[in-house]
Amino acid sequence: MYKSHCAPLYYHPTTSVWERSLFRIPPPASVPNCCSLWSVKKVTHSGVPRGTRKTVSLEDPSDSLILSNLTFFNFETIPIKENLADMAALTSHFLLLTWALLLVMSVDSSEQASLLRDDFYKDSCPDAESVIKAAVDSELDKNLKLAAGLIRMQFHDCFVEGCDASILLDGNDTEKTAPINSNLIGYEVVDAAKEAVEAICPGVVSCSDILAYAARDSTVKLNGTGWAVQGGRKDGLFSCAEAAELELPPPTFNVSQLIESFARRGLSKKQMVILSGSHTVGVGHCDKFFERLYNFSETHFTDPSINASYAEQLKTDCPQATFNTTLEIFMDTITPGEFDANYYKGLSEHKGLFTSDQSLFDDRRTRKLVKKLMSERVFDRQFGEAMRAMGAVGVRAEGQIRRNCRTVNPW
Ligand code: HEM
Repeated sequence: MYKSHCAPLYYHPTTSVWERSLFRIPPPASVPNCCSLWSVKKVTHSGVPRGTRKTVSLEDPSDSLILSNLTFFNFETIPIKENLADMAALTSHFLLLTWALLLVMSVDSSEQASLLRDDFYKDSCPDAESVIKAAVDSELDKNLKLAAGLIRMQFHDCFVEGCDASILLDGNDTEKTAPINSNLIGYEVVDAAKEAVEAICPGVVSCSDILAYAARDSTVKLNGTGWAVQGGRKDGLFSCAEAAELELPPPTFNVSQLIESFARRGLSKKQMVILSGSHTVGVGHCDKFFERLYNFSETHFTDPSINASYAEQLKTDCPQATFNTTLEIFMDTITPGEFDANYYKGLSEHKGLFTSDQSLFDDRRTRKLVKKLMSERVFDRQFGEAMRAMGAVGVRAEGQIRRNCRTVNPW
């Protein structure tokens, strides 16, 4: 039986519509569920108090029990994957819904940002930040590679349905199972931080906030200066692999595509360039830039924008016939373990690992900014501000404080 956190539905008894996430959708017969194996056939309701919201995970046996206890609707399910026509229709519905969600996210960004505050846990859990930091530090002392993983993890969380810890949910077809997230690391660090903070303030600090603190603490561990992280995010209730695959920008994107991708989250071209500076730490794998080395275009076997000796070195590391998919290549060739501005210097030397990196220097629209960001002082000052903006994407007033970051709370 298929089971996932995908596509929970909220029934709104006053308006008799089903809602998903931040926006309303038509009645259940036409509800597209991005990656669930079912569609809802029939729904009736009774006795639901006004304004009550219920989460429905139809394949989950424990939820089904809860649903039968609540007796506010009946349903039949169709196994969608056995019906390709349904699948195609659902995919287009899903794209439409994703677009609508992103529209809502960008329109409401100031309202969402206002849900967040510095020192959010000052009264409710004054030691939260320091306890999280201690747990993160202790995990990173065991494996410092996880620091880059956590910075990337917050980006991958925020760009898919907003910063709601959807990346942390376990299950079939959740975001973390998407190929684009296959190399994401650091989940155990968030678990350790959650356990530590639950021990002092149970049910108070959201997993999405923990991830935001952990990402900042990771940059500090790599000798970055850090920034004040806002708190107040709620944890989401669903997570879909397909959404991650659709929403996260691939490394083949050019500047126009990157600008557009960030703009849909209410983030500017400038913020996009600054946030890309995270590639000052961490690694990429051969398959992500393979085409640049061996199959670039009709006229160029190798991407001419790569520094010639760097291209040769990459070809040695990632040989055409037998490249190693587990080999890790530093994205910053100058100081790969330091959270500093050298990523931008690397771009000026044509040593950007991905098209999405190098094009920031090669495109006239972003080159000037890349040059400015080569200054440690400028990068330092601006990175934290951009992370605060990214950390406010799609945050919502509704949701829960998960007790375990890997699973939604039972009723
Ligand atoms: C601008 C669009 C972006 C693209 C196309 C992109 C793409 C990628 C790719 C392909 C990798 C390597 C994955 C692998 O080979 O396993 C990577 C790694 C990484 N990304 Fe990005 N990224 C982008 C923006 C960001 C942002 C905004 C952040 C954080 C704020 C970020 C943080 C990182 C970090 C820290 C790593 C290294 C992870 C590790 O070593 O485990 N990236 N990114």
